[in-house]
Amino acid sequence: MTTLIRIALQKSGRLSEDSYQLFKECGIRFDYGTGKLKSVSSNFPAEFLFLRDDDIPGYVEDGVADLGIVGENVAVESARNVQTVHRLGFSKCRLSIAIPRSESWNSIADLNGKNIATSYPRLLGNYLSEQGVTATIHEISGSVEIAPSIGLAEAVCDIVSSGSTLLSNGLKEVETIFRSEAILIAGSRLNKEHQIILEKLLFRIKAVQAAKN
Ligand code: PRP
Ligand code: ZN
Ligand code: MG
Repeated sequence: MTTLIRIALQKSGRLSEDSYQLFKECGIRFDYGTGKLKSVSSNFPAEFLFLRDDDIPGYVEDGVADLGIVGENVAVESARNVQTVHRLGFSKCRLSIAIPRSESWNSIADLNGKNIATSYPRLLGNYLSEQGVTATIHEISGSVEIAPSIGLAEAVCDIVSSGSTLLSNGLKEVETIFRSEAILIAGSRLNKEHQIILEKLLFRIKAVQAAKN
Protein backbone atom coordinates (compact mmCIF):
# COMPACT_ATOMS: atom_id res chain seq x y z
CA MET A 1 0.00 0.00 0.00
CA THR A 2 1.54 3.30 -1.01
CA THR A 3 1.23 6.15 1.45
CA LEU A 4 -1.05 9.01 0.43
CA ILE A 5 -0.83 12.50 1.84
CA ARG A 6 -4.26 13.93 2.68
CA ILE A 7 -4.85 17.49 1.55
CA ALA A 8 -7.92 19.48 2.64
CA LEU A 9 -9.25 22.06 0.18
CA GLN A 10 -12.21 24.44 0.36
CA LYS A 11 -15.22 22.78 -1.25
CA SER A 12 -16.56 25.97 -2.77
CA GLY A 13 -15.66 29.56 -2.12
CA ARG A 14 -13.01 32.14 -2.72
CA LEU A 15 -10.08 29.68 -2.51
CA SER A 16 -11.50 26.71 -4.38
CA GLU A 17 -10.86 27.58 -8.02
CA ASP A 18 -7.39 28.99 -7.31
CA SER A 19 -6.50 25.89 -5.29
CA TYR A 20 -7.66 23.51 -8.04
CA GLN A 21 -5.77 25.61 -10.58
CA LEU A 22 -2.57 25.39 -8.50
CA PHE A 23 -2.66 21.57 -8.50
CA LYS A 24 -3.47 21.54 -12.21
CA GLU A 25 -0.40 23.70 -12.87
CA CYS A 26 1.62 21.33 -10.67
CA GLY A 27 0.53 18.50 -12.96
CA ILE A 28 -1.40 16.79 -10.15
CA ARG A 29 -4.71 15.39 -11.42
CA PHE A 30 -7.85 14.64 -9.42
CA ASP A 31 -11.61 14.88 -9.88
CA TYR A 32 -13.58 17.60 -8.15
CA GLY A 33 -16.85 19.41 -8.45
CA THR A 34 -18.93 16.28 -8.87
CA GLY A 35 -20.34 16.50 -5.35
CA LYS A 36 -17.78 13.98 -4.13
CA LEU A 37 -16.17 15.00 -0.85
CA LYS A 38 -12.90 13.18 -1.47
CA SER A 39 -10.82 12.20 -4.42
CA VAL A 40 -7.52 10.35 -4.90
CA SER A 41 -5.10 11.78 -7.45
CA SER A 42 -4.45 9.56 -10.47
CA ASN A 43 -0.78 10.58 -10.76
CA PHE A 44 0.47 11.83 -7.35
CA PRO A 45 0.34 10.14 -3.91
CA ALA A 46 -2.35 12.44 -2.54
CA GLU A 47 -5.96 12.20 -1.44
CA PHE A 48 -7.99 15.42 -1.51
CA LEU A 49 -10.79 16.25 0.95
CA PHE A 50 -13.32 18.97 0.04
CA LEU A 51 -14.45 20.79 3.19
CA ARG A 52 -15.81 24.04 4.61
CA ASP A 53 -12.79 26.35 4.85
CA ASP A 54 -13.48 27.19 8.50
CA ASP A 55 -13.19 23.49 9.41
CA ILE A 56 -9.83 22.94 7.69
CA PRO A 57 -7.45 24.17 10.47
CA GLY A 58 -9.16 21.84 12.95
CA TYR A 59 -8.89 18.82 10.64
CA VAL A 60 -5.21 19.58 10.07
CA GLU A 61 -4.49 20.07 13.78
CA ASP A 62 -6.19 16.75 14.58
CA GLY A 63 -4.23 14.96 11.84
CA VAL A 64 -7.38 13.97 9.91
CA ALA A 65 -5.78 15.89 7.04
CA ASP A 66 -2.00 16.20 6.72
CA LEU A 67 -2.08 19.47 4.77
CA GLY A 68 -4.65 22.14 4.01
CA ILE A 69 -5.06 25.26 1.94
CA VAL A 70 -6.87 28.09 3.73
CA GLY A 71 -6.90 31.84 3.93
CA GLU A 72 -4.47 33.12 6.53
CA ASN A 73 -7.46 34.92 8.08
CA VAL A 74 -9.17 31.58 8.72
CA ALA A 75 -5.98 29.94 10.04
CA VAL A 76 -5.22 32.77 12.50
CA GLU A 77 -8.84 33.13 13.63
CA SER A 78 -9.04 29.39 14.35
CA ALA A 79 -6.10 29.61 16.82
CA ARG A 80 -5.38 25.96 15.96
CA ASN A 81 -1.92 24.51 16.33
CA VAL A 82 -0.94 24.37 12.64
CA GLN A 83 2.20 25.54 10.83
CA THR A 84 2.32 27.72 7.75
CA VAL A 85 4.41 25.65 5.33
CA HIS A 86 4.24 28.01 2.36
CA ARG A 87 2.56 31.23 1.28
CA LEU A 88 0.66 30.70 -1.95
CA GLY A 89 0.19 34.29 -3.10
CA PHE A 90 -3.37 33.91 -4.40
CA SER A 91 -6.86 34.69 -3.07
CA LYS A 92 -5.60 37.91 -1.54
CA CYS A 93 -8.11 39.81 0.57
CA ARG A 94 -8.27 42.02 3.63
CA LEU A 95 -10.23 42.00 6.86
CA SER A 96 -11.71 45.46 7.28
CA ILE A 97 -14.08 47.47 9.43
CA ALA A 98 -16.94 49.07 7.51
CA ILE A 99 -19.76 51.42 8.47
CA PRO A 100 -22.84 52.79 6.68
CA ARG A 101 -21.83 55.17 3.87
CA SER A 102 -23.92 57.98 5.39
CA GLU A 103 -22.01 57.91 8.71
CA SER A 104 -18.96 60.08 9.36
CA TRP A 105 -15.64 58.58 10.45
CA ASN A 106 -12.79 60.25 12.30
CA SER A 107 -10.79 57.42 13.85
CA ILE A 108 -11.01 53.93 15.31
CA ALA A 109 -11.98 55.58 18.63
CA ASP A 110 -15.39 56.23 17.02
CA LEU A 111 -16.14 52.55 17.73
CA ASN A 112 -16.04 53.00 21.53
CA GLY A 113 -19.34 51.77 22.97
CA LYS A 114 -20.55 50.52 19.58
CA ASN A 115 -21.70 47.08 18.39
CA ILE A 116 -19.67 45.38 15.67
CA ALA A 117 -20.80 42.27 13.78
CA THR A 118 -18.14 39.87 12.52
CA SER A 119 -17.20 36.26 11.81
CA TYR A 120 -13.69 37.07 13.09
CA PRO A 121 -14.15 37.82 16.81
CA ARG A 122 -10.59 36.89 17.75
CA LEU A 123 -8.82 38.99 15.11
CA LEU A 124 -11.18 41.90 15.73
CA GLY A 125 -10.95 41.61 19.52
CA ASN A 126 -7.14 41.63 19.42
CA TYR A 127 -7.11 44.65 17.14
CA LEU A 128 -9.56 46.63 19.26
CA SER A 129 -7.66 45.95 22.46
CA GLU A 130 -4.35 46.96 20.80
CA GLN A 131 -6.06 50.20 19.80
CA GLY A 132 -7.56 50.71 23.27
CA VAL A 133 -11.12 50.57 21.95
CA THR A 134 -13.97 49.03 23.95
CA ALA A 135 -16.82 47.78 21.77
CA THR A 136 -19.27 44.88 21.81
CA ILE A 137 -18.49 42.14 19.30
CA HIS A 138 -21.43 40.16 17.87
CA GLU A 139 -20.25 36.94 16.29
CA ILE A 140 -22.27 35.83 13.27
CA SER A 141 -21.19 33.20 10.78
CA GLY A 142 -22.34 34.78 7.53
CA SER A 143 -24.16 37.63 5.76
CA VAL A 144 -22.34 39.98 8.12
CA GLU A 145 -22.85 42.98 5.86
CA ILE A 146 -26.59 42.99 6.53
CA ALA A 147 -26.10 43.77 10.25
CA PRO A 148 -26.21 47.62 10.17
CA SER A 149 -29.33 47.76 8.01
CA ILE A 150 -31.28 45.51 10.37
CA GLY A 151 -30.14 47.27 13.52
CA LEU A 152 -27.88 44.52 14.85
CA ALA A 153 -24.70 46.61 14.83
CA GLU A 154 -23.34 50.03 13.88
CA ALA A 155 -20.32 48.52 12.13
CA VAL A 156 -19.10 45.27 10.61
CA CYS A 157 -15.70 43.62 10.31
CA ASP A 158 -15.49 41.27 7.35
CA ILE A 159 -13.43 40.08 4.41
CA VAL A 160 -13.17 42.51 1.51
CA SER A 161 -11.82 41.54 -1.87
CA SER A 162 -13.40 43.41 -4.77
CA GLY A 163 -15.47 45.57 -2.40
CA SER A 164 -18.70 44.77 -4.23
CA THR A 165 -20.40 43.20 -1.20
CA LEU A 166 -19.83 46.36 0.85
CA LEU A 167 -21.01 48.53 -2.01
CA SER A 168 -24.22 46.64 -2.55
CA ASN A 169 -25.00 46.83 1.18
CA GLY A 170 -24.45 50.60 1.47
CA LEU A 171 -21.26 50.28 3.52
CA LYS A 172 -17.83 51.93 3.29
CA GLU A 173 -14.49 50.51 4.38
CA VAL A 174 -12.89 52.65 7.10
CA GLU A 175 -10.05 50.57 8.57
CA THR A 176 -8.09 47.50 7.44
CA ILE A 177 -7.08 45.26 10.33
CA PHE A 178 -5.50 42.24 8.58
CA ARG A 179 -4.18 41.37 5.10
CA SER A 180 -4.54 37.80 3.96
CA GLU A 181 -3.69 35.36 1.20
CA ALA A 182 -3.94 31.60 0.72
CA ILE A 183 -1.44 29.54 2.71
CA LEU A 184 -0.47 25.86 2.81
CA ILE A 185 -0.73 24.57 6.38
CA ALA A 186 0.44 21.35 8.03
CA GLY A 187 -0.05 19.69 11.36
CA SER A 188 2.79 19.00 13.76
CA ARG A 189 2.98 15.24 13.28
CA LEU A 190 3.81 14.47 9.65
CA ASN A 191 5.62 11.15 9.46
CA LYS A 192 8.72 10.58 7.32
CA GLU A 193 6.77 9.34 4.28
CA HIS A 194 4.42 12.33 4.42
CA GLN A 195 7.37 14.68 4.71
CA ILE A 196 8.90 13.22 1.56
CA ILE A 197 5.63 13.70 -0.36
CA LEU A 198 5.33 17.26 1.02
CA GLU A 199 8.86 18.04 -0.25
CA LYS A 200 7.87 16.82 -3.72
CA LEU A 201 4.72 18.93 -3.65
CA LEU A 202 6.60 22.04 -2.48
CA PHE A 203 9.17 21.57 -5.22
CA ARG A 204 6.40 21.66 -7.83
CA ILE A 205 4.56 24.59 -6.21
CA LYS A 206 7.75 26.64 -6.10
CA ALA A 207 8.47 25.86 -9.76
CA VAL A 208 4.94 27.00 -10.72
CA GLN A 209 5.39 30.21 -8.69
CA ALA A 210 8.85 30.86 -10.16
CA ALA A 211 7.49 30.50 -13.69
CA LYS A 212 5.00 33.28 -12.96
CA ASN A 213 7.50 35.81 -11.63
C1 PRP B 1 -16.32 37.17 2.02
C2 PRP B 1 -17.10 38.18 2.81
C3 PRP B 1 -18.03 38.81 1.82
C4 PRP B 1 -17.28 38.68 0.52
C5 PRP B 1 -16.58 39.97 0.15
O1 PRP B 1 -16.88 35.90 2.12
O2 PRP B 1 -17.81 37.58 3.88
O3 PRP B 1 -19.25 38.07 1.78
O4 PRP B 1 -16.30 37.66 0.68
O5 PRP B 1 -15.96 39.89 -1.14
P1 PRP B 1 -16.06 41.10 -2.17
O6 PRP B 1 -15.39 42.30 -1.53
O7 PRP B 1 -15.30 40.64 -3.38
O8 PRP B 1 -17.50 41.36 -2.44
P2 PRP B 1 -16.02 34.56 1.71
O9 PRP B 1 -15.97 34.45 0.23
O10 PRP B 1 -14.71 34.62 2.40
O11 PRP B 1 -16.89 33.36 2.16
P3 PRP B 1 -17.28 32.79 3.62
O12 PRP B 1 -17.35 33.99 4.53
O13 PRP B 1 -18.60 32.16 3.37
O14 PRP B 1 -16.25 31.78 4.02
ZN1 ZN C 1 -15.66 30.59 5.44
MG1 MG D 1 -18.84 35.68 3.53
